[in-house]
Amino acid sequence: MTKILVATEKPFAAAAVEGIKKTVTDAGYELVLLEKYTDPNDLIKAIADVDALIIRSDKATKAVIEAGKNLKIIVRAGAGFDNIDLAAATAKGIVAMNTPGQNSNAVAELALGMMVYMARGCYKGISGSELKNKKLGIHAYGFVGKIVAHIAKGFGMQVYAFDPFIEKSVIEKDGVKVVSSVEELYSTCQYISLHIPANDKTKKSINFDLLSKMPKGATLVNTARKEVINEESLQKMFIERPDFKYISDIAPDCHADLASKYEGKYYATPKKQGAETSEANVNAGIAAATQIVNFLKNGDKTFQVNK
Ligand code: 3PG
Repeated sequence: MTKILVATEKPFAAAAVEGIKKTVTDAGYELVLLEKYTDPNDLIKAIADVDALIIRSDKATKAVIEAGKNLKIIVRAGAGFDNIDLAAATAKGIVAMNTPGQNSNAVAELALGMMVYMARGCYKGISGSELKNKKLGIHAYGFVGKIVAHIAKGFGMQVYAFDPFIEKSVIEKDGVKVVSSVEELYSTCQYISLHIPANDKTKKSINFDLLSKMPKGATLVNTARKEVINEESLQKMFIERPDFKYISDIAPDCHADLASKYEGKYYATPKKQGAETSEANVNAGIAAATQIVNFLKNGDKTFQVNK
C-alpha cells in the first residue's frame, strides 16, 4: 500500500493530524506518523519504505532523501524550503513542494504581537510607545508581508515595502508605499519586518551597513530565518546604537550574549513560534496531504520548488 510519512520533530496540532489522516486514508493510502523525534536516524529509518513525506522545519538532508528508496515526493508544510536538499531531491527525480500562504496569517500575527511586546517594554510596567503613526518597512512582500501590512494599517502605522520581484502597482493597491531600494526602506522606517527567504543570496545579507541606516528608535523584527542576519553586524549594532531593538522568532547563535547584555531591547522566542497555531497547522498540513494525493493520483506538480 502507498505510504505517506508525516515526520514532525515539532508536531502538528491534533486537529491537523486528524485532517491529514482523513485526506490520506480517503485516497486509499496509509499514514505513518513520526512525531517528536530527536535523532535524525529515526527519520532515516522511517523513510525507508514510504512513497511520500510531509515535514515542517525537519531537515530533509541528502542522507534522508537517499534513504527513501520508494520516495517520490516531499512536501514542506509551510513556506520556507531551505530545510530540503533540493539538489539531492532533483538528482533522485523526487518532487519537492511547499504550501505557500497556508500558515502566513499566524506568522504575521506573531510579527505584530512581538512588536507590541517590545514597544511596551516587554510588559514590565514601564511607559512604552505606540505603533500608531510609526513607519513600518516590509522587507519582501509575499504572503506574510502582505498580511503584516494589512494588520499594521489597522494599528495606524505608515506602511512601506521593498520587493524587487513584485510589481509596484500590485503593492500600491494595498495602500502601501513602495520604495526603490532596500537601503531606502531601512533609512525610512523605524520598524523593519523581515520576510525574505534564506538562500545563497540572502544569507547574512542583513548587515551593519543596512541596519545602521535605520532611524533613531529602530526595531528589527525577524519572523523569517536567523540565517539572513549577519550576527557580527547585529552585535555591532547593539554596541553602537543604544536605541536599537531586535525581536526574533528563533534565537540567533549569539543569543546568550545578547540576552545577557540587552534586556528590554532584545527578545527571541525559545522555539520557532510563527506557524505554531492550530489553524496554521490544519491549513498547511491538509494542503500538504492534498498536494501529495493530487500528485500521486494525477501527476499534479503545482507548488513544485525544484523545477
Ligand atoms: C515556514 O517556513 O513555513 C515557517 O517558518 C514555519 O515553520 P514551522 O512549520 O517549522 O513552524
